[in-house]
This record gives sequence, structure tokens and C-alpha cells, in this order.
Amino acid sequence: MVTVFIVLFKQLKAEIIMDNSNCDQGSLRPMMAGDLASILLLRNHDEIRRYMLTQHKISINEHTLWFDKASKNPSTELLVFEIKNKCFGFVQFKESSNTGIVDWGFYVDPDAPKGVARRMAEEALRTVFKKKGIYKVCGRAFDWNESSINFHKSLGFAQEGVLRDHHFDGLSYHSLICFGLLKRNCKVREKFNEEKE
Ligand SMILES: CC(C)(COP(=O)(O)OP(=O)(O)OC[C@H]1O[C@@H](n2cnc3c(N)ncnc32)[C@H](O)[C@@H]1OP(=O)(O)O)[C@@H](O)C(=O)NCCC(=O)NCCS
Repeated sequence: MVTVFIVLFKQLKAEIIMDNSNCDQGSLRPMMAGDLASILLLRNHDEIRRYMLTQHKISINEHTLWFDKASKNPSTELLVFEIKNKCFGFVQFKESSNTGIVDWGFYVDPDAPKGVARRMAEEALRTVFKKKGIYKVCGRAFDWNESSINFHKSLGFAQEGVLRDHHFDGLSYHSLICFGLLKRNCKVREKFNEEKE
């Protein structure tokens, strides 16, 4: 019985992963307590964890405490990107003081079909700029995280600076590239005009 379930589950996952057209589907929604397990699995994935400022494996307790606090904080937005009820990515926006300027962070399942990250990021940016009235989104990436650097640039983010040797991981220092995207420069903005209020 368990074997049958595992085989069916693997088939379903393979179907989702193989079908690249899925990247045109999917939607972003607020993270809920029911997402804790799948988001933790993604967050602790070796290919995600190594790009994060906090790199240790996060325990379920630590993760639950983080969610309890962050989900109650009105300046923090926690979003999950899912396709056919499977969670493929996570985006967080954090406004430091009521300025309309937010920091964002994100990651996508390394097994996700190509284009899922872009689809998720575009929907997230449309949401904050249009629906939330945010003025600027800021991001930071390690200077060796080429995927993220290229990804920010392709979304229209400008490189605004480099924080040299700004992060110590316990062994060595790493530089961070700072990115910023103003609402008026957002490449996904045209889609705002097509949408009816
Ligand atoms: C950063 C991150 C989200 C970028 O994801 P990504 O895989 O580059 O983004 P996409 O899924 O949109 O894929 C982009 C690539 O697929 C291509 N692509 C997009 N849609 C496609 C499609 N339908 N079919 C085939 N290829 C497609 C793009 O042209 C692009 O190619 P390129 O890398 O040669 O430019 C991802 O690497 C990640 O989660 N990394 C770990 C966490 C992390 O670093 N987070 C950011 C911290 S600052």
C-alpha cells in the first residue's frame, strides 16, 4: 500500500516537473500554518540554504517560532507560490518603517520547471507595487550568487552598491550586492495597465 502511494506520488511530482507549461499556471497566496512543512523542506534544501544569510539547517521548532512571529507582523508579507496545490516557491517582503520601501527574499524549488521563479517574482512584484502601493523593492545577493544577480537584473532591478565583506559565515567574509527596483522602473508594470481596477 505504502509502495503504491510512493509510486503514485513520484509520478505526480514528475508530471508536474516535466510539464514546463505549468510555469504559465500557478498562483501566489499568503503562507499559512499548513505550509510550514513544505516551506521548511525547501528552505533547508542544500541548493537553497547555501545562498541564504542564515545557513544552518533550521529545525521545525525554530521555523514554527519564526512563522508565528512573522505572520503576526503587519510589516511582513509571507507568500507561497503553488502549482496544482504543490508549493514551488516562497517570497517574503519586509517593510522596515512605513516608507513604502521593502526588502524582499525568495527561493524556488530547485526541481521546479524553468520559468517558475520568473512567474512567481512577477506576480509578487505586481502585488506589492499595485495592490500594496509599495514604492521600492530592495534585494541583496552574495556576489557569487550568479543566478540571483542575473535574475534581479532581468526583472529590472538596478545594482545600487556592493557591501564589501559584509557577511561573516563563521569561516570567511562575503560581499553582498544590493539591488533596488522602483515602481516606475518595474518591467512587469505594463501588465498593471491591462488589468482593470
Ligand atoms: C534565484 C532563483 C530564484 C533564480 O531562479 P531561475 O531558475 O534562474 O529562474 P527561472 O526559473 O525563471 O529560470 C530562468 C532561466 O530559465 C529560462 N526560462 C524561463 N522560462 C522558460 C521556459 N518556459 N522554458 C525554458 N526556459 C525558460 C530563462 O530564460 C532563464 O535562463 P537563463 O538562466 O539562461 O537566463 C533560483 O536560482 C533560486 O531559488 N536560488 C536559490 C535561492 C536564492 O538564491 N534566492 C535569492 C537570494 S538573493
